[in-house]
Formats: sequence, C-alpha cells, structure tokens
Amino acid sequence: MKKIAVALLAGTAILGAQAVAAPKTKVPPEPQTVSQVCSQCHGDRGISTSPIFPNLAAQNEQYLVRELHNFRDRKRDDPHAQAYMWGMANRLTDEVIDKVANYFSALPPPPPDLGQNPKEIAAGKEIFEKGIASEQVPACQLCHGPTGAGSATIPRLAGQHREYLATQLLAFRDNERQNMIMHSNVAHMTDQQVRDISAYLSSL
Ligand code: HEC
Ligand code: HEC
Repeated sequence: MKKIAVALLAGTAILGAQAVAAPKTKVPPEPQTVSQVCSQCHGDRGISTSPIFPNLAAQNEQYLVRELHNFRDRKRDDPHAQAYMWGMANRLTDEVIDKVANYFSALPPPPPDLGQNPKEIAAGKEIFEKGIASEQVPACQLCHGPTGAGSATIPRLAGQHREYLATQLLAFRDNERQNMIMHSNVAHMTDQQVRDISAYLSSL
C-alpha cells in the first residue's frame, strides 16, 4: 500500500513539475532582425532598455503587425515614432514583420513595476475600471480588458513602462498620435490623471 502511495505521489509531482515548466505558447527562435537591430532598444526578450522604449513582450500579435505597417507607411507620426521607428520599419518586409510580431507576442509578459506610488495606483485603478463620467472618459477596461491584456488590435497595457504610457496618452490627447478612438477617450484627462493611470498600468 505504502509503496503504491509513494509511487502515485511521485507521479503526481512529476506531472505537476511538467505542467509548471511547459510554456503557455511556444516561443519561436529569435528572428535575426530582432537580435541584430530591435534588441538594442526593445531587448532580446521584449523587455526594453529604457522606459521611453515600449516593452513588446506578450504584446498582441495583430496589434504589433498593424503598428509596424503604420510606422512603415508613416501613418503613426508622433515625434518618437518619426525619430526612432520610421527608419527601423522602412527596411522591414511583410514577411519579417509577421515573424517579428509572432516572436514578441509569444514571449512571457513584462514583470510589474513595484516602485509606483500607491496613491497614484489607487486613483489610476479607479479610472481604468470605472472611467471619469464628468470628463467623458470611458472605463479603459471596456476595450483593454479587465487585466489590461487587450486583444487582437487593441494593445496590451499591463506591465508597460509608465513613461511610455504617459507619452502616448499625451500624444493621443494632443493629436500627435492620431487615433480617433483614443483621442476622444483621453481628450479631457488632466496631466495628473495621465500620471495616475500610467502608474497603475505599469504596476500590473
Ligand atoms: C533606437 C531605438 C529603437 C530601435 C532600434 C527599435 N525601436 Fe521600436 N520603438 C522605439 C521607440 C522610441 C518607440 C515608441 C515610438 C512612439 O513613441 O511612437 C518604438 C515603438 C515600437 C513599436 C510600437 C509598440 C507599441 O506598443 O505601440 C513596435 C511594434 C516596435 N517599436 C517594433 C520594433 C522592431 C520590430 C524593431 C526592429 C526592426 C524596433 N522596434 C527597433 C525605439 C526603437
Ligand atoms: C473604445 C475602445 C477603447 C477604450 C475605451 C480605451 N482604449 Fe486605449 N486603445 C484603443 C485602441 C483601438 C488603441 C490602438 C490605437 C492605435 O492603433 O493607435 C488603443 C491604444 C492605447 C494606448 C497605446 C498603447 C501602446 O502600446 O502604444 C494606450 C496607452 C491606451 N490605449 C490607454 C487607454 C486608457 C488609459 C484608456 C482609458 C482612459 C483607454 N485606453 C480606453 C481602444 C480603446
């Protein structure tokens, strides 16, 4: 009896270990473009080297493809897009864009930034979940999902760098990054509300 119980336990332990070790999605090999070019700023594993460069790890594949086309076609034309990404995307073929997007989307998500101010996090959570009725700001989770993971062409926001998020929100607000949906969402947000929501999202 005892032997069987031990064997069963050992079997369960092995099964358990395998279940934990198995990645959710299979990460394809790192494309050469990433190791030679993109990794300088976005990191080999999609965790960027500066908070003004977005993390790309676990970002949604369709969103990545669309943004790379937008940079290449010069449709996304905020100042950092022009300065950093136009030249990069110019050289990419459709095939390489698909490969790179597939790679980054399959990586494990960025770790939460635990250094944010708890007051800002609490205020940001409120905006994310409920919006701000008096300023016509909708609840962000309606589109970006309750955990900020987004889906398809709606970007993941969870674990993104605070600085990058705030820059994008101000760019949408001031129409530097042109997007009708996001412009109307944030048109009435104050600078402090932008700081709050960015702190909250980077802490996820
Ligand atoms: C010199 C630094 C640098 C390099 C190298 C670089 N990027 Fe970027 N990337 C940036 C910056 C800065 C932004 C933010 C642009 C903005 O603010 O609009 C960005 C934005 C992006 C975005 C949009 C992400 C989002 O959340 O909207 C994608 C996708 C991207 N880069 C992919 C790539 C790929 C693929 C390569 C390699 C071919 C690459 N980048 C090389 C700096 C860089
Ligand atoms: C009606 C749907 C919708 C709602 C509600 C919404 N968003 Fe978005 N958001 C989008 C879409 C679509 C994009 C992609 C825009 C693009 O392609 O340029 C986006 C992009 C973004 C980005 C850019 C991310 C990146 O990686 O560059 C940020 C930041 C963002 N949203 C924050 C917010 C916040 C904060 C709220 C709540 C105040 C919010 N969104 C509410 C649809 C929405």
